[in-house]
Amino acid sequence: MRIVGFHHVKFGVTDIATTERFATDFGLKTVETRNGVLYMKTAGGDAYNYVAEPSDVRRFLGMAFAVEDISDLEQAVRDHGATPIVAIDGPGGGYSVSLTDPEGQCVWLVTGIAGEHLPVSHRPLALNVPDARTRFNAAQSTRALQPAHLFRLGHIGLYVKDFATMAAWYERVLGLKASDTMFAGEPDHKIAGFFRIDRGADYVDHHVVFLAQWGKTDAHHISFEIEDFEAQFIAHRWLESRGWKPNWGVGRHPLGSHVFDVWFDPDGYRFETFSDTDLVNNQHQGGNYDVKEAQMDLWSSESPERYFA
Ligand SMILES: [Fe+2]
Repeated sequence: MRIVGFHHVKFGVTDIATTERFATDFGLKTVETRNGVLYMKTAGGDAYNYVAEPSDVRRFLGMAFAVEDISDLEQAVRDHGATPIVAIDGPGGGYSVSLTDPEGQCVWLVTGIAGEHLPVSHRPLALNVPDARTRFNAAQSTRALQPAHLFRLGHIGLYVKDFATMAAWYERVLGLKASDTMFAGEPDHKIAGFFRIDRGADYVDHHVVFLAQWGKTDAHHISFEIEDFEAQFIAHRWLESRGWKPNWGVGRHPLGSHVFDVWFDPDGYRFETFSDTDLVNNQHQGGNYDVKEAQMDLWSSESPERYFA
């Protein structure tokens, strides 16, 4: 099966109007509300990246990966017991099948959804560093205090009860590859890992799925690509001014290298921006790290509890 990208996530939310207000401030754009279901997107080419439907209690409803074509859906039905192929009732149409991972999370495979890029006017930072001057007779690009420009849905972090079983399923069924893992005690007792899409020699993000053993099964965070670290500081200031609740950041992860900034949505799920991620391919040499020594933010000495609890 050839996964080409991460397409969307779906949540049940307790107050859809407040969720839409938060997600709009975060940088997502509303595509439409269809039968009470809210579809929102980044400026990237996907028809939508975030889907929310009303729910009595907050819940993570699943995640969708784009595959190359319908033959991948047929293969998922044949080889992995996916549900029959159906036409998607959502913006841009398309087709999907659904799988259930070993801890009951819904994983959709989708293809043929017609989406389009939204126009974004932004100027990359031109940095003057000691060995490479790039900006002359010009001030640094400034960013307005407003919702961020988001370019795509990049990855999801999941709490899992049994890392080994979940990791094996995501590797076997979705073909994901471990980029880095963490262990507790003995090196073969792995409890967390970063998994990337396998595109062979083509470069992909360091991870599309992060699994962390934490005594429950749920979404931990969803992460969207933003321009750069300065856009993240500006977005941070903007979200603060709008009264939303920060969780962590702006910081830099040692594994995957990306700069990240994490906020709580109105139901307490984490929304993250990331920039400057590592790109890796099948030549990547992964590591297995002792979780006791793991640092999650190179720019902070605080221990990681607040990021996970
Ligand atoms: Fe992340």
